[in-house]
Amino acid sequence: MSNPKTLISEAEIKTRVDELAAQISLDYADKGELVLVGVLKGSFIFLADLSRRLSIPRHIEFIAVSSYEHGSVRSGAVRLVMDVRRSIEGKHVLVVEDIVDTGHTLHYLIDMLRSRGPASVRTCTLLHKEHRTEVDVEIDYLGFTIGDEWVVGYGLDYDEKDRTLPYIGAIEPQD
Ligand code: PRP
Repeated sequence: MSNPKTLISEAEIKTRVDELAAQISLDYADKGELVLVGVLKGSFIFLADLSRRLSIPRHIEFIAVSSYEHGSVRSGAVRLVMDVRRSIEGKHVLVVEDIVDTGHTLHYLIDMLRSRGPASVRTCTLLHKEHRTEVDVEIDYLGFTIGDEWVVGYGLDYDEKDRTLPYIGAIEPQD
């Protein structure tokens, strides 16, 4: 497979992550520790960069989910496969995603985390495929809106390939 075509460059990502980190730092100033919940695996690079640019106290957690699939088609049902390690009760929580596609994953996570008595739950995603939305979710901090292309890099994969590309690339999936 040839190199993915650049959709969002490394420099564009860096600038946008700086802006998001500045906004989040402002919004949560004087609110105590912010719990960042990264959704594995795709968010790991975005979370690493975003969290290091915040100027507020923060605590890092990870969560992992799995989507039920029928063949290559996702059913929309989501299952928790790894939970956070600390209670989020009374805490301000920011869920960090690499991409919101249909919205099912984030919708499930918001509901689940809100049921645990946090002070607040907000969401941050680097990418949003808004035309693929099946369930509406609140996105509080958004990096970029993209089209329907298959994207890789900066944490996102195609069949576990290209996760560590430094930019967001678009590919033609091979069956
Ligand atoms: C991706 C992404 C989100 C989810 C979004 O994860 O990281 O968690 O899909 O899709 P949705 O809005 O349609 O629910 P993926 O299942 O590819 O797993 P990965 O992060 O481990 O690569």
